[in-house]
Amino acid sequence: MNKNCDFLVLGSGLAGLSFALQVAEYGKVILITKAELEETNTRYAQGGIASVTYEPDNIEKHVEDTIEAGDGLCDIDVVNMVVEEASVQIKALINWGINFDKLQNGQYDLNKEGGHTENRILHHQDNTGTEIMRALSKLVRENPDIEVLEQCFALDLITQHQLGRPVFRGKRDIECYGVYVLHRKTNSIHTILAKKTLLATGGNGYIYQTTTNPSIATGDGIAMAYRAKAYVEQTEFVQFHPTGLYHPGVRPSYLITEAIRGYGAILKTIDGKEFMHKYDRRGSLAPRDIVARAIDAELKTRGDDFVCLDCTHLEPEGLKKHFPNINKKCLSVGIDITKDFIPVIPSAHYICGGVSTDANGLTSILNLYAAGEVACTGLHGANRLASNSLLEAVVFAHRAARHASFSLAESEFKTGIPDWNDEGTSLPEEMILITQSTKELQQIMSNYVGIVRSNLRLKRALDRLEILYRETENLYNRSTVSVKLCELRNAINVAYLIIRQAQERRESRGLHYNLDYPHKYPE
Ligand code: FAD
Ligand code: SIN
Repeated sequence: MNKNCDFLVLGSGLAGLSFALQVAEYGKVILITKAELEETNTRYAQGGIASVTYEPDNIEKHVEDTIEAGDGLCDIDVVNMVVEEASVQIKALINWGINFDKLQNGQYDLNKEGGHTENRILHHQDNTGTEIMRALSKLVRENPDIEVLEQCFALDLITQHQLGRPVFRGKRDIECYGVYVLHRKTNSIHTILAKKTLLATGGNGYIYQTTTNPSIATGDGIAMAYRAKAYVEQTEFVQFHPTGLYHPGVRPSYLITEAIRGYGAILKTIDGKEFMHKYDRRGSLAPRDIVARAIDAELKTRGDDFVCLDCTHLEPEGLKKHFPNINKKCLSVGIDITKDFIPVIPSAHYICGGVSTDANGLTSILNLYAAGEVACTGLHGANRLASNSLLEAVVFAHRAARHASFSLAESEFKTGIPDWNDEGTSLPEEMILITQSTKELQQIMSNYVGIVRSNLRLKRALDRLEILYRETENLYNRSTVSVKLCELRNAINVAYLIIRQAQERRESRGLHYNLDYPHKYPE
């Protein structure tokens, strides 16, 4: 089942689907996804998508809030560009049939989240991502120019490396020709060749023990790109969402959206004491890095397992109407949000760094684009402002689609690509080798490479990781490939990048807080 196409899309979240819908006007598209089309991080997005809509908000304020959250590492040109292009991309989403909530007067109902100085988050109830996936996946499935391949796992990008050719050290001298794909239902491996490839494989929260991300988020795209020698940067900036529902033994953590704090909920300790004012004048609505660190400090000082969100002072009917899914979820575990505190803990949520791109989403590899969480575009810097990631995904998918379509005629299919080579391999003897290593990896990352780090913790993490790396490479080289084994290998690759880049950053900045460097270097 080897295939050719003009545009190959890896991933079916907001970045992949919106790119596919746009390039389908210019050529044949194949979109592959390792699970069902709808199973993405995008689907679980709650708060919404940031964009300047009404006065008194304006472009300058959104730019300033993004830069302030990013703690000195945002690319200012990229921030200006994304914020300016937001409203056009929001219109595109609305034209594709996505419904954002409105007030009775017909104006959009705008949420507020941490780090935003204005109400500017367009949303659909408290499940914006589900609404995005509903509308876009229907359009993609109905489009005759898009072939959707579900349950297809991208194993590795095809570049000159697979041809055994030396690569010269110039600008964009590595080229992407397509991808090797493992079809999960038939267990067969196929070659898909493409003139243009988009990496839209999302993030890697699942490499941590406590995370809001679904199990697809194992960092496959970053690992594939890194193995293909793409430039990967700023992976040390892992964002922990302050308020995952505390529910021991349940993975992923159900998110309690930051918009609920924008609506008036207050963070308190178990015994009902407010604490955020000790850490930041913005209290419960300070940027996420500050809130997550404050909660971490409270838990360590007090020896508690969780802190609480208090909504009990808010008008009950309005609260339930605004957050119907959170209300339902909490009731299902015995919590009435109008009367009870909601127990919460910080959970790994988002990676700000990733595969480095230019303003058109082009990576350092020719004909390979990246958009969405897998990419590092310069927008987020050291800490992402809430609800800027869906915005980044749609803006960069649009720019990449435009660039890839206009330059399509310059690209050709590569011939002479060898089939996947699995000579001398056999089925792994025992699944336990993979599941145990996955658990160990998640523990290492949560215990040593979490919200607060130190040089000793990072060294320990790297030492432990090396053992897992050697064992896993050994297993990989003698085993028939399987999704679980490849995900583990990818997760180890990404963990390595996070730890190494964290070690290289000899300061505390944004989401990277190292006890040995309590302060930032002066700018
Ligand atoms: P995703 O939506 O994660 O899609 C990745 C796709 O790649 C999936 O289809 C997956 O199956 C596929 N894939 C991965 N690896 C492979 C492989 N090897 N082979 C084939 N396919 C592969 N951001 C906001 O801006 N606002 C919010 O309100 C918000 N809320 C959030 C709430 C939660 C609970 C979570 C987890 C995240 C939230 N975020 C939010 C972040 C945001 O949802 C994500 O960053 C964004 O949706 C990522 O979109 P994406 O298209 O890059 O990737
Ligand atoms: C949330 O709804 O709190 C998540 C928003 C985000 O991650 O941007």
